[in-house]
Amino acid sequence: MSRRARAQAAVSSSAGAGRPTVTVCRGCCCGTAKIPRVDHTAQLAELRTALGDSASIRVVDCLDACEQANVIVVQPSPAGRRAGGRPVWLGLVNDRDVTADIAAWVEAGGPGPADPPGILDLYAFQPSRRVRQGIED
Ligand code: FES
Repeated sequence: MSRRARAQAAVSSSAGAGRPTVTVCRGCCCGTAKIPRVDHTAQLAELRTALGDSASIRVVDCLDACEQANVIVVQPSPAGRRAGGRPVWLGLVNDRDVTADIAAWVEAGGPGPADPPGILDLYAFQPSRRVRQGIED
């Protein structure tokens, strides 16, 4: 199994958790010096601190959407999925404000129970079907 397939499998396996899952890409581009002027370590620490037990946080290898680095995927809890929530892919998450917005949204319930802050519309993107299927199916 390739590193990419393992990363996507890790994301898929989180679907059974009872809370939203925040998948933080840290691959060949996300979380590296290729994305300058971002304290990548602090970004992850801030998510962990802000979310505590409100969400599962997973760090995965490249999600094959490097042009959007840093990529974060917010997956609904099972209840959130039943309420219509679907995974939301966020790209260019490269400043502290958007990281805080993501954390606040997830803490409020994430996809399904809570509407995302409007500003996150600017960061949302749709990866290719091939990439999406690895996570959403
Ligand atoms: S390193 Fe994050 S999408 Fe490739």
